[in-house]
Amino acid sequence: MPLLHRIARTDHPTIAFVLDGIPREGRHGDTLLTAILEATDALRRTEFSHAPRAGFCLMGACQDCWVALETGERLRACSTPLAPGMRIVTGAREVIR
Ligand code: FES
Repeated sequence: MPLLHRIARTDHPTIAFVLDGIPREGRHGDTLLTAILEATDALRRTEFSHAPRAGFCLMGACQDCWVALETGERLRACSTPLAPGMRIVTGAREVIR
């Protein structure tokens, strides 16, 4: 279930991207954080407890929102604009052991 529900920019052009191997759509003007959390309930899991995370400061300062592209490039989800064709890997769906 998505963590966020869009209430603005509902008429902006869509942007196709891939999230953890699943095709998704965001909207022009979305950050990665917005697009990801409109599609699912977490940006990533913590390294130690595997608890779900959804960002903290939302302004590029806390480092809580790291995601990666399939190429390995790491990005802050809260301050990176969504671009067409991005293939984002969050690891948020990894099985907790
Ligand atoms: S949420 Fe703090 S840096 Fe992105």
